[in-house]
Amino acid sequence: MNVLLLGSGGRESALAWKLSQSRELDKLYIAPGNGGTPNYGTNVAISPMDFGAIEKFVNDHQIDLIVVGNEDPLVGGIADYFDKDGAPLVCGPKKAGAMLEGSKDFAKRFMARHQIPTASYKSFDSSSLEEGIKYLETLKPPYVLKADGLAAGKGVLILPTLKEAVDALREMIGGMFGKSSSTVVIEEFLSGIECSVFVLTDGKGEYKILPVAKDYKRIGEGDTGLNTGGMGAVSPVPFADSEFMDKVEKRIIIPTVNGLIKDGIDYKGFIFFGLINVDGDPYVIEYNVRMGDPETEAVMLRIDSDLLHLSTASAKGSLKGEELKIKPETAVTVMMVSGGYPGSYPKGFPIKGIENVKESIVFHAGTSENESGDIITSGGRVLTVSSLGTNIEEALKKSYSSLEKIDFEGKYFRKDIGKDLM
Ligand code: AMP
Ligand code: GLY
Repeated sequence: MNVLLLGSGGRESALAWKLSQSRELDKLYIAPGNGGTPNYGTNVAISPMDFGAIEKFVNDHQIDLIVVGNEDPLVGGIADYFDKDGAPLVCGPKKAGAMLEGSKDFAKRFMARHQIPTASYKSFDSSSLEEGIKYLETLKPPYVLKADGLAAGKGVLILPTLKEAVDALREMIGGMFGKSSSTVVIEEFLSGIECSVFVLTDGKGEYKILPVAKDYKRIGEGDTGLNTGGMGAVSPVPFADSEFMDKVEKRIIIPTVNGLIKDGIDYKGFIFFGLINVDGDPYVIEYNVRMGDPETEAVMLRIDSDLLHLSTASAKGSLKGEELKIKPETAVTVMMVSGGYPGSYPKGFPIKGIENVKESIVFHAGTSENESGDIITSGGRVLTVSSLGTNIEEALKKSYSSLEKIDFEGKYFRKDIGKDLM
């Protein structure tokens, strides 16, 4: 099979790594990819949003399957675009399903309709601002305000006082996140530990549960400072034991998969459940319609089955009877970022020492190759170092000793990934 993978982050590096191991693979292309993805396939300088250019490429290169790494093309309707005779299969939902991530209000209505546990909420826009303020007055602090639309992971504000919440509501509706926040979801604050659950589903009611992971979103050790795209991840998650996962499957996964079918939404691809464990009971914080980043950079190390085979089965609607084997070991990933991230940061620094890493896998994220063929930094999250171990301590030891071998100007990483789980 010839495969086109869309995206350019650490997640796509990990997906490319795993797809490239498949015996069913002939050629793998990554659009646009990053400085590390040529290790697994061929980079193609096409934007995942340029459906016309993608169409020309897939026709010229006999692509059989498109695997969509990031949410934007899904919310933009790439799976609808290629739903025609002669087009490749797409592992990723159509626009109607991608709305689970593309609109928080849509996701909340979906969960209400299918009795899926989540925080209570109401949605407001410029015509209902005063009602929004009244609703805030009925809630207890802290206050959770979410931009309805995609906001590159920045659209959620958690505010300690009513005054700040009211001000934020006004600013959000007034355009703080552009059109994404013209509607704002206000919801009850839930207190607990979060984890990320992933399934691959096929639109026919079949699903496979991938390894569960926990990610570390804040820039600072001890979960302090600004939110980032993710600073590290661990899989499995000790508190997500069989009792908890049983509840997740019965109360959340099955009602979601069946709810999509009941609503007439043809959903093929990954579903990411951002969950919170409130006194042993799982609640949905958010849906995403793709894999997590950096969770994927840990999760892929634990998958003992052919991801290309499973992605194809998902896209074809034939997951029934397929098996997803998971390794019992622990996988961790630690992200190396540019100094200054998640604020502004300089780029273009040479990265040294990746070739000295033997015990871990380095997945590139914000890297590129310059004219002389050197790998340089080109983003905030630069690369991630993933390791497998018999336990969390062993996996972390490998990643942290590998991190010492890699160097670039201004490098930063959290030294406490996974410590809370040990
Ligand atoms: P989201 O982008 O929806 O994942 O939200 C970003 C982060 O905000 C989540 O990972 C949670 O840590 C936090 N958060 C979102 N909604 C809630 C909620 N209802 N209660 C507590 N924390 C929340
Ligand atoms: N790690 C969280 C996300 O991918 O949205």
